[in-house]
Parts: sequence; structure tokens; C-alpha cells
Amino acid sequence: MAVAGLPSRKVETHTDISETRQKPCTFFPRKADPDSTTASSGYELMPWWMKIAAKLVLSRIPHSYQTFAKLGMFRHGAMQDSSYALAVFKTHFERSEFPGKHGGYTCLELGVGDSVASALIARSFGANKTYLLDSGRYAIEDVSVYKNIVQSWQQAQLEIQDLDNVASFDELLRRVKCEYLTDGLSSLRTIPDNSVDFVWSQAVLEHIRIGEFDETLSELLRITTPGAALSHRVDYKDHLGGALDNHRFPSRVWEADWMAGSGFYTNRISQPDMIRRFEKAGFTVEVLLTNTWDVVPTPRPKMASEFSQIPDEELLVSGSDFLLSR
Ligand SMILES: C[S@@+](CC[C@H](N)C(=O)[O-])C[C@H]1O[C@@H](n2cnc3c(N)ncnc32)[C@H](O)[C@@H]1O
Repeated sequence: MAVAGLPSRKVETHTDISETRQKPCTFFPRKADPDSTTASSGYELMPWWMKIAAKLVLSRIPHSYQTFAKLGMFRHGAMQDSSYALAVFKTHFERSEFPGKHGGYTCLELGVGDSVASALIARSFGANKTYLLDSGRYAIEDVSVYKNIVQSWQQAQLEIQDLDNVASFDELLRRVKCEYLTDGLSSLRTIPDNSVDFVWSQAVLEHIRIGEFDETLSELLRITTPGAALSHRVDYKDHLGGALDNHRFPSRVWEADWMAGSGFYTNRISQPDMIRRFEKAGFTVEVLLTNTWDVVPTPRPKMASEFSQIPDEELLVSGSDFLLSR
């Protein structure tokens, strides 16, 4: 079924992409659905310090990301799962109002992870051009994977670009008018001013290196059009076991390249600090959802002293949804 203009969008997705469906970047074998396996996988049963030790060692083994990914050993999220990719796009799209939403807009997903499926979805939801941005070339490039994804969406009644005659990854990107940019902030700097109407990210802002965070926001402000919408899901839990064990380390250790480059980095920016940074960059901020723990999940005396002044209420926030406008 070839797409012409906008789809009927009859498809209803029931994939929950909030708290439990967020897929951390992971570095160990998982089965196809991490939700059903996390409790039983050896990695998930390891204590936080053992995960750090293992990742520090494994990240130093020379490898290509795709080699480890093929072995199921290193994943950036869950975008290779067709229902997850669709649910992520629809969630951010449906709550955002922006120029050209009903056809002919330019959009950008920050931190796409393991697939470029979002570009196919965006095209079917009226995008004229899609930028998919990441800090590395992590997306699956095997076109047959996307053909299978498209088939599953078509079975769910989504009008989507036909990929039957697409022979290469580059042709796929051209077909859905997508630019796949893989050099993080440097790539963001290449996008023209006032050119993007809709930006979204899912479990990404917390992974941006703290030293690049504010400039990333400034760049997002620069490239977006007046009236643009930016929808973000942020996961404040550490990516070691879903607590705040990342707060045990002083910044001089946590932010060192040998630590931050080992596959479990999160920038430890709290929700109020993130809001301050959004506003300082020039965005108007709406907090759509805040998830909280009942108790701070890591003992406060175990945290580095630089976190001692942060009130419990800040540390109790485990996730939030933001809608930014400019
Ligand atoms: C937890 S994964 C989430 C992937 C995807 N959004 C999902 O929901 O499956 C975080 C992603 O953010 C990307 N990332 C980290 N820093 C980034 C940056 N400065 N710019 C763009 N992407 C970045 C990582 O490479 C990774 O793909």
C-alpha cells in the first residue's frame, strides 16, 4: 500500500512507552522483549557495582556496534520493535501542535537508537522531511528488517510507504525523505536555522553529556520554527538497576571519559534543573507528567557530597514528560 499524503491513521496502538516500556541502553544479552526477560537475565541480577565493572571491561574490547548488536550484546533502546517505535512516535505527535502538523512539516528525532523506523512513520504522518539524529551510527541497516516492520504496520491498518523495491539503506532513507545524522551536537549544528517544526525524544535527554546539554538546547532553539513543538520523555533512573546509584560518584569520576564512555552514562540532571535549563535556553515549558518514587531509592549517605544539598523531592522524581515551545 503506497502512501499518498496523509494516512487514515486508523491504527490504535496499546504499547505502553512510559515507565515500564522504556528500554535502557544495554550492553548484555537480552531476549527480543526485554520487559519479559529483565528479571531473569544474568545482567539484571547483578548489583550496580558489578554492572559498572563489567561494562568498563567490555566497552574496551575492540568491536563495531553492529557486531555486538547482532549478538544481542549492546542495544540503544528498543526502536527495532515495530509496535514500540509506532507508539513512541504517536505519543509525542498526538500531544504536540505545530505548524504544518496536518501535512508538510519538517521533524527531528533526537537519539533514535537502533532503527530508523521513525522516519517511515513520520512520512506516513505527513512529514516532508525527517532528521534522525544520534551520537553514533547505531541503526540497523538491513532493509529486510524494515520490510518486515512495514508489513506488521500494514497488517495493523497503517498506511505506510511501500518498501518492495528498496534495495539499500540509503535508498530507504531517500524514499522517506530522511537525513540520518550520527555525530550528535556536531550534526545538530549543520541543520539550518528556523527549519524544524516538530522535535521529539524518548529516553535520550538524560544521556546527553552534561557539558553538551545546554548547547544542545540552544541548537534546538536555533533550528526550530516559531510555533514549533518539542516533546520529550526523560528517565531519571540510573541505567544500572533503576535506582540512583549513579549519584554515588563525584562528577570528577562520573564525567571522566573512561567512565562516561562505557555504556551506562546518564547526566544526573534533576527535573527542576532540567526545567531551569530549558527556560534559560529560551523555551516555554509544560510538564505533562511526573513519575515519582515513594522513597529515594539509593541511601542519601552513600551519594557523593555534591548531591547533599538537593532536597528529597528532587531526587524522588523518576521520570517526566515535557512539552516545550518557542
Ligand atoms: C536509551 S537510548 C534510547 C533510544 C530510543 N529513543 C528508544 O527509545 O529506543 C538513548 C539514545 O540517545 C542517544 N544519544 C546520546 N547522546 C546523544 C546526543 N548528544 N545526541 C543525540 N543522541 C544521543 C544514544 O546514542 C542512544 O541512541
